[in-house]
Amino acid sequence: MGAATLLEIKHLVVRYDKAVVLNDVSLSVEAGEWVGLVGPNGAGKSTLLRAISGLVAFEARARRGTEGDIVLDGEVRFLGRRIDGLQPHEIRQMGLVHCPERRRPFRELSVIENLMTGAYLSRNSAEDKRRLERCFSLFPQLSERRYQLAGTLSGGEQQMLATARALMFEAMLLAIDEPSLGLAPRIRDELFAAIETIHHEGVSILLVEQEVGRVFALAERNYVLSQGQIIAEGTAQALLADETLRAGYLGL
Ligand SMILES: Nc1ncnc2c1ncn2[C@@H]1O[C@H](COP(=O)(O)OP(=O)(O)OP(=O)(O)O)[C@@H](O)[C@H]1O
Ligand SMILES: [Mg+2]
Repeated sequence: MGAATLLEIKHLVVRYDKAVVLNDVSLSVEAGEWVGLVGPNGAGKSTLLRAISGLVAFEARARRGTEGDIVLDGEVRFLGRRIDGLQPHEIRQMGLVHCPERRRPFRELSVIENLMTGAYLSRNSAEDKRRLERCFSLFPQLSERRYQLAGTLSGGEQQMLATARALMFEAMLLAIDEPSLGLAPRIRDELFAAIETIHHEGVSILLVEQEVGRVFALAERNYVLSQGQIIAEGTAQALLADETLRAGYLGL
């Protein structure tokens, strides 16, 4: 592992009961890097992010001894430190922030209150305010609606809010799961522009996204996951040069 390796996953295995969802997955993200993770539906992409952020282990602990045990194996390191086994909030505090798929905001809270639920960690109101204003500058549409109840936002605005909330944490690595799902093209562009801004400020990105073309345009390096295994890794250019991959897995 290089000195600048932020995230290092080795031989990760996740099994739900007898179904093997991740089978010996190894992957890394360097400091400052934007890494894309693509692959067909059901490949295990969301499970991979959930395993990194401690959610699979959390679910495994909750299920232990019940029907359908979850088996989790392998190593996950962040900043050189083992994080498999840590609680989700401990992992987040280290700067690995996960923005899950189809996350919905708290409907009964306003936009601003939703964002502040992501800010309690800093224990510093000036810092919270700074981060809040930063979210609003990245998502002006949310700024205009800061006092509106989240449940009354449009679907796209709710999704934007979910992503904005992740930004309230001080992230070193942002692991984002299909942020553009169900969004109109113009809103997608805005969302990715916001992610690009964050990346330019030095935050590393691990992006899961259905729109392969979009990932390839943004990420510096990519992994292709299929049936729980990494079947290819490289720059967009290298992956696109592989005809089998192109036709079989990338849908291009
Ligand atoms: N908690 C769970 N219990 C049992 N099986 C699960 C659980 N979570 C995921 N799976 C199964 O693991 C497989 C991988 O799911 P996952 O959500 O990781 O795929 P994905 O690559 O994110 O797919 P998509 O592109 O559709 O979001 C699926 O077959 C899914 O049904
Ligand atoms: Mg998924």
